[in-house]
Amino acid sequence: MRDKKVWLITGAGRGLGADIAKAVLAAGHAVVATGRDPAAVRRAVGPADDLLVTALDITSPDDAAAAVQAAVDRFGRIDVLVNNAATLIAGYFEEIPPEDFERQLRTNLLGPMSVTRAVLPVMRRQRSGHIISISSGAGLVGFEFSSAYAAAKFGLEGWMDSLAAEVASFGVHTTIVNPGFFRTELLSQESASYAQESVDDYADRRAAQLTWWNAQHGQQPGDPVKLARALVIVADSDDPPRRFIAGADAIALAEQKISELSAQVAAFRELSLSLAHDDTES
Ligand SMILES: NC(=O)c1ccc[n+]([C@@H]2O[C@H](COP(=O)([O-])OP(=O)(O)OC[C@H]3O[C@@H](n4cnc5c(N)ncnc54)[C@H](OP(=O)(O)O)[C@@H]3O)[C@@H](O)[C@H]2O)c1
Repeated sequence: MRDKKVWLITGAGRGLGADIAKAVLAAGHAVVATGRDPAAVRRAVGPADDLLVTALDITSPDDAAAAVQAAVDRFGRIDVLVNNAATLIAGYFEEIPPEDFERQLRTNLLGPMSVTRAVLPVMRRQRSGHIISISSGAGLVGFEFSSAYAAAKFGLEGWMDSLAAEVASFGVHTTIVNPGFFRTELLSQESASYAQESVDDYADRRAAQLTWWNAQHGQQPGDPVKLARALVIVADSDDPPRRFIAGADAIALAEQKISELSAQVAAFRELSLSLAHDDTES
């Protein structure tokens, strides 16, 4: 096999995170599997020699610092960080209480930042590393009923794109992953919460959205075990991609985004090109 690497994975107690931990171990790498409930992580990942399970609520910078220290104490390094853990808070923007919107940003945007802040000094010292952050199709395209989740994922992407330029010279790669719908527990009651009704104007659409979202649970086309194996291939490549769009539905969304952006550029191109000071050469 290629060089053995040390992976630190958030949210490894269920869903995609558990599958990533198992795929990474099966490929012969070492894993620091983290989660809010270490016993659940142990149960989900199973026993392995090169496995360290440690507590990490991604909204706690102290947890992040302690998990990184535990990883370095055990394995001496961290080669790959996977910012995987997240929740879904859905609903119409006007019906999502501000504190819930903030909670979504705290978990899905500030959480990955906090864990990465703890890991980066280790990677800079090594002059090598790879930060993989799981975004979403909703990090490429905004959807009705998804403003809080999409705001967090769009933010994650802007932060990751900027970080890429800051850390490349230290030998640290970054990859944004845009999964389509994968059959995990994200749409279960444990992970997803929906805004309570408060604005009558949304009543019919809210009901239709809830029916649609609940119907998706367990029917998502993507297989998280395959995605986990694909991430091992991506991380093992000599020149990891800045972005990995995962699943046929995600590719369709990305292509929709490209054509919409092209159309938006074309629609007012001449107006846009006319905005420089008159003394600026075009
Ligand atoms: N499944 C999809 O269709 C899909 C599509 C696009 C993107 N994604 C993204 O894929 C990633 C994995 O999600 P999933 O589909 O595997 O969902 P999941 O089955 O619901 O798993 C979510 C994981 O995140 C953990 N988590 C939530 N809040 C946490 C916190 N504050 N600290 C630490 N861990 C926390 C959960 O742990 P607990 O057990 O402690 O709650 C759980 O292990 C997420 O970033 C999600 O946004 C998923």
